Amino acid sequence: MKLKMEQENKTEACCITQCDVPMDQKYWDTRWEKQETGWDIGYPSPAITKYIDGIADKNTAILIPGCGNAYEAEYLIQQGFTHITLIDIAPKAVENLKQKFENNPNITMLLEDFFEHKGGYDLVIEQTFFSAIPPFRRKEYAAKMHDILNENGRIVGVLFDKQFNNPFPPFGGCPCEYRPIFENLFDIKTMEACYQ
Ligand SMILES: C[S@@+](CC[C@H](N)C(=O)[O-])C[C@H]1O[C@@H](n2cnc3c(N)ncnc32)[C@H](O)[C@@H]1O
Repeated sequence: MKLKMEQENKTEACCITQCDVPMDQKYWDTRWEKQETGWDIGYPSPAITKYIDGIADKNTAILIPGCGNAYEAEYLIQQGFTHITLIDIAPKAVENLKQKFENNPNITMLLEDFFEHKGGYDLVIEQTFFSAIPPFRRKEYAAKMHDILNENGRIVGVLFDKQFNNPFPPFGGCPCEYRPIFENLFDIKTMEACYQ
């Protein structure tokens, strides 16, 4: 386990136990319809593409939950991966994806709530989905991830090391908050500052 222990002493700043507005399908679809998608960086996250470059087995079963425009899936396809599942709760986001990945046999697109999803994956790619989930659901997120990962499966992704203190996404945090959420269910191999 490789962890930046100096982060451990930060106090838990996240006190959000409920949201004024439910973070449900309507909320997210409205954001997509109004093009309020400030999270969208327009290209695959470099830290994630670097990780993908190290995966030899192109048949690895990969899930990208809360995928949005799914730039990481485009990258996976370019690299020859064959077993990619994308989930988003927003009909507008999935409509966009259907145009983008039309007839691609290597991609399964699901209009679905991640928390209702059933499946088995070797790898989950996390790119700003965790920060879209209200913090009071984070334990549920970790448990769901654990359920849908195959034995020796992994979550790989980028999390904020920053507090935003807003009752709307993105919801930030720090390793001192993230570690207790995941460590009962997962071996944390790496949780450290991201330089890509
Ligand atoms: C902050 S955006 C991130 C999108 C994309 N991963 C990116 O980084 O560009 C969060 C996405 O998760 C979707 N989402 C939110 N809650 C969800 C849920 N419970 N199940 C599936 N998707 C969800 C939203 O519709 C939105 O597209």
